[in-house]
Amino acid sequence: MTNEIIREDARWIVDRMGAALDPLRGTTFLVTGACGFLCSFVLDVCAELNRRGGKPVRVLAVDNFASGLPERVAHLADRSEFKLITHDVSQPFDPGEPVHWIWHGASVASPTFYRRFPLETIDVNVNGTRQFLELARKQPGVQGMVFMSTSEIYGDPTPDAIPTPETYRGFVSCTGPRACYDESKRLGETLCANYHRLHGTPIKVIRPFNVYGPGQRLDDKRIMPDLMSAAVERRPIVLHSDGRATRAFCYLRDGVWGMLHVLLRGEPGEAYNVGNDHEEIGMLDLAKRLVEVAGPPTIPIEHKVSDDPHYLSDNPQRRCPDLSKMKRSFPWSPEVDLREGLSRCLRSYGDKPVGGA
Ligand SMILES: NC(=O)c1ccc[n+]([C@@H]2O[C@H](COP(=O)([O-])OP(=O)(O)OC[C@H]3O[C@@H](n4cnc5c(N)ncnc54)[C@H](O)[C@@H]3O)[C@@H](O)[C@H]2O)c1
Repeated sequence: MTNEIIREDARWIVDRMGAALDPLRGTTFLVTGACGFLCSFVLDVCAELNRRGGKPVRVLAVDNFASGLPERVAHLADRSEFKLITHDVSQPFDPGEPVHWIWHGASVASPTFYRRFPLETIDVNVNGTRQFLELARKQPGVQGMVFMSTSEIYGDPTPDAIPTPETYRGFVSCTGPRACYDESKRLGETLCANYHRLHGTPIKVIRPFNVYGPGQRLDDKRIMPDLMSAAVERRPIVLHSDGRATRAFCYLRDGVWGMLHVLLRGEPGEAYNVGNDHEEIGMLDLAKRLVEVAGPPTIPIEHKVSDDPHYLSDNPQRRCPDLSKMKRSFPWSPEVDLREGLSRCLRSYGDKPVGGA
């Protein structure tokens, strides 16, 4: 699946990064979770880079379609430099050829689904991460690897730790309904730190904060797709909370732009927050903003208790990144404000719905 907005965003990244993307040329880039929301866009950026000529980047795209959609990469199927491999990354993997860059993005990422599949979530975040760290260790040509961790490793930070810097150690339940995700990502990070210490593996950790954008499945069950699907179908937006919890949302293009800098130039063994620090917004205000962007006739907002008794258990009250480290390290700062990002999403879903709607 691709549409004009996604293509435009991929073009924007290649224009903006220019020669900074050159290290990818003529190399092989292994991407896990390649048919997911975030990583399929990484593939679109690679496709755009190849469209510009020069030595192409070869992409090995690995996914088991737990939540990924084959149609997200169908437009790349006939390109000789792309290879789609169906594989559960919790299991050993041999790419059968030398690899130079690894982007380990496979995970169960939506709270509704990781609460339903906690053991699979732990497997992919712990065993899967170990498999690909091993691969990086065994392949001397690997120049860089990223592990897609999460801002959820911070749990529910105390107010003095908002905005949250990378040095914050977290306030996390190890047994609650979200622990399968939060704690397995934390252990994934521990594996990364130790592979770097023991073997010098060039691993960098990315902690994304609520990245949203075109291409996200409308049936993904995270807050943004929930609101977006109501707006696309022009039915009432239903909030399952009092709407006071806050998040800071990062548009996909800004997020992946920063993440590519981390892959290519990040310090091995280091972790980087990636998000948007312009606006921390409550869920009710987010719904109101979307209603404004969607325009008339006005979409009503309703409150309803979720059928899922654990919907709000251990839900962090506030989430906002401290991005000083990213801004210090790279020529990067998020640029797309929430209104523009919401508008681009709505337009993209007008092109082609993804998933349930
Ligand atoms: N989008 C965000 O805001 C956000 C925030 C924090 C962390 N992350 C992390 O970024 C990564 C991508 O997230 P996303 O939002 O694109 O989620 P997504 O669900 O769209 O993508 C995850 C992909 O991983 C694949 N996958 C899951 N288990 C697998 C397995 N065992 N073997 C092979 N493939 C498997 C899925 O099929 C899917 O294609 C994830 O690691 C997620 O934890 C994302």
